[in-house]
Amino acid sequence: MTAKTLFITGGAGFIGSALIRYLITETPCRVVNVDKLTYAGNLESLASVADSERYHFEREDICDAAAMTRLIAHYRPDAIMHLAAESHVDRSISGPAAFIDTNINGTFTLLEAARQYWDGLAGERKAAFRFHHISTDEVYGDLEPGLLFTEETPYAPSSPYSASKAASDHLVRAWQRTYDFPILITNCSNNYGPNHFPEKLIPLMILNALAGKALPIYGDGQQIRDWLYVDDHVRALYCVLSTGKIGETYNIGGHNEKTNLEVVTTLCQILEQLAPDKPAGVANYVDLITYVTDRPGHDLRYAIDASKIQRELGWQPVETFDSGLLKTVEWYINNDAWIENVSSGAYQQWMETHYDD
Ligand code: NAD
Ligand code: DAU
Repeated sequence: MTAKTLFITGGAGFIGSALIRYLITETPCRVVNVDKLTYAGNLESLASVADSERYHFEREDICDAAAMTRLIAHYRPDAIMHLAAESHVDRSISGPAAFIDTNINGTFTLLEAARQYWDGLAGERKAAFRFHHISTDEVYGDLEPGLLFTEETPYAPSSPYSASKAASDHLVRAWQRTYDFPILITNCSNNYGPNHFPEKLIPLMILNALAGKALPIYGDGQQIRDWLYVDDHVRALYCVLSTGKIGETYNIGGHNEKTNLEVVTTLCQILEQLAPDKPAGVANYVDLITYVTDRPGHDLRYAIDASKIQRELGWQPVETFDSGLLKTVEWYINNDAWIENVSSGAYQQWMETHYDD
């Protein structure tokens, strides 16, 4: 049997790059990374696997129908794993247009290109093809105390980001119901780990603390998120792609409900151990915590019931929150070059010199 070819959108992002590193090092798959390289795309995150003969990179926009049709016809994938998205809630509040374009229109464009390709397949290849849509627990909205998000929880998105992801989930499900198109959907909780762009809570707090800058907590910091180490998410994605049932949705989460204040306080404690030489004027990292204006429409709580994927597919997370957070802080302390290039914007120049368009 020949190794599978996986067409991965958004592979230069935080989760996509972790997925590709896993696929190249732990599986025989051939990977085609299709990424527009927005501010969130960083090819440096793929430096360790970029020389593999099984890795191919294509800089394209998923909203470009002709490009998607051409690339899919050229690479003839066995599956598409669709991660490309605008992913940051705060940016969706200040500028929602890109979220509508990429998350809704881009998903529609990719679905149509993929469906036309799948229509032309026959026999085993047609039966084995999958379109795996990677989505978020934010589609379910704000969760009351005591409850968990299941795959049956009704959608109630709060932000432009989560509304755009909810719309894309609905499109993907409709393509299955209407055209029998073989889809899988996963909805995951908050990821954290290496190579995370420092606009998101955990990397922002680590880098700010190391620089002696304020640690901005929105509102009272009592909002709850359910944290999952990114490599656990990646293993779940490959597990769902390989063994999930067509048309099904799988929730993925880490059973790590923490308030934002708990997360930031824990990070400060880890930094006290790993980076005791603090910037001038900082007695304790925790003193840098600053309460700022809350995010508009801020969801108070998310928490995933991941029992379906555990029961039906046998996946469960490996990292605890303590072990994952420690690894994450160590990674940020030990990867000056990646951080320096992201902080200065030089990573975008790096991509121009390392990738010949
Ligand atoms: P990210 O912002 O780090 O990466 C997104 C990637 O998509 C970037 O490489 C970017 O260049 C690319 N991209 C954006 N617009 C594009 C377009 N029009 N065409 C092609 N490429 C484009 O995002 P992430 O955190 O890695 O999230 C990946 C996926 O997982 C998203 O769909 C997100 O909704 C979902 N998700 C994320 C989390 C999380 O905690 N980060 C949790 C659950 C689900
Ligand atoms: O739940 C899954 C989602 O998790 C993904 O779908 C999104 O793509 C991903 O960005 C993430 O969304 P959040 O909005 O939860 O992540 P963020 O890191 O932006 O914020 C986490 C929490 O921390 C949230 O309650 C807002 C708060 N926060 C965030 C920042 C950046 C702060 O208090 N201060 C901050 O400076």
